[in-house]
Amino acid sequence: MKKRILSCVMAVFVYFSLMPFTVTESTENKTDNKISSQTKKPQVTDTQNNDSSVIDSSSELNIPEFSDSLKDKFSSFFKTGTCISASGIDTSAEFILKHFNSITPENELKPDYILNQQASELYGNNVNTQVVFNNNTRKILKFCEDNNIPLRGHTFVWHSQTPDWFFKENFRYDGADVTPDIMNQRLENFIKNTFELLAKDYPNLKIYAYDVCNELYENNGGGFRKPGSNNLEMGKSYWTKIYPDDSFVINAFTYARKYAPPECKLFLNDFNEYVPAKTKDIYDMAMKLKDLGLIDGIGMQSHLDTGYPDISTYKTALEKFMSSGLDVQITELDITCSDFSLQAKAFKDIFTLAAGNSENISSLTVWGTHDTVSWRNYANPLLFGENYSEKEAYKEVMSIKNTDLK
Ligand code: XIL
Repeated sequence: MKKRILSCVMAVFVYFSLMPFTVTESTENKTDNKISSQTKKPQVTDTQNNDSSVIDSSSELNIPEFSDSLKDKFSSFFKTGTCISASGIDTSAEFILKHFNSITPENELKPDYILNQQASELYGNNVNTQVVFNNNTRKILKFCEDNNIPLRGHTFVWHSQTPDWFFKENFRYDGADVTPDIMNQRLENFIKNTFELLAKDYPNLKIYAYDVCNELYENNGGGFRKPGSNNLEMGKSYWTKIYPDDSFVINAFTYARKYAPPECKLFLNDFNEYVPAKTKDIYDMAMKLKDLGLIDGIGMQSHLDTGYPDISTYKTALEKFMSSGLDVQITELDITCSDFSLQAKAFKDIFTLAAGNSENISSLTVWGTHDTVSWRNYANPLLFGENYSEKEAYKEVMSIKNTDLK
């Protein structure tokens, strides 16, 4: 039954877009098919292969006023992504295929998901970190590969959702902390083994971006997180407990550059990125990595609330990041609220700002398909509500016109 529904939906897509689910499809085809009453304007070249450099600035960017698909609406500007869980594929496959052309596994590529303690202890010789993908991870990777949806990988170096044994002798919970030298080897093997497994088991999967480091900094800026175990004291980092300096960041990007597929852009990703002191921390590290040729972009998580930040505060941070000359991606957008109209305006503001700066922004990901499955579901932070109902926020975003773009 599910298969039949899926094939009907695919048939409709074939009818409307000629090349369904093909990420390299021409934006011209997509946009033309969706515009009903709008005058046709010159189109940009295809941005769907995620090479933001291919945007032809001599052409005028065009935004279809009438579209019922997020990814089609913004296809001239950036990839439109969502995070998904494995169970989301069972319940939301058609919906995901309709609206999104980028996927981030919500948890399934995080260190605690793919680092394998037993195998590392048995076969790791204290340095060769063993990586295993379980069925949930595999389900998402296969879904992306089968449907030709490019993946945002998330993440390697993170203080959270990372087991303490990874930092201890013999990969054992009862081991002493390892030296930076041992940890370098473990980090290199973690990244190497992950990319090798991805390439071996999903040869047709396109990985277009990866969050190499996530949430390095104190919540409101002021440098790296304090040393400690996040599993024991929330917010602390085992990385800064092992390393006295920023070499784990430099090394992580060095290894990622060495083993990631060439088209995969490497990101420094963080939240509260619009808090000025934190904007500076992220920017300074990004510039250091840029000078070394190791980074491609800055990820703005963008977990927002209608009360804070306002759009001009957000814009200040975005402009600072864009001034780095690096790509910028909005990686985890959600906006908590108690007033749906305010939320709708906030979403519209962010999408409008992003579309207006799309020469520097190659993708915009919302953190979840609909409120029911959001990690912040207590405050309904997404574009769709229960049963994928179209919220005011979705309608506002879909109403953005060329004339709204600054
Ligand atoms: C969240 C997931 O959405 C939850 O399911 C999980 O329980 C905790 O992590 N910043 C990040 C994401 O980089 O990985 C987090 O995702 C949200 C905050």
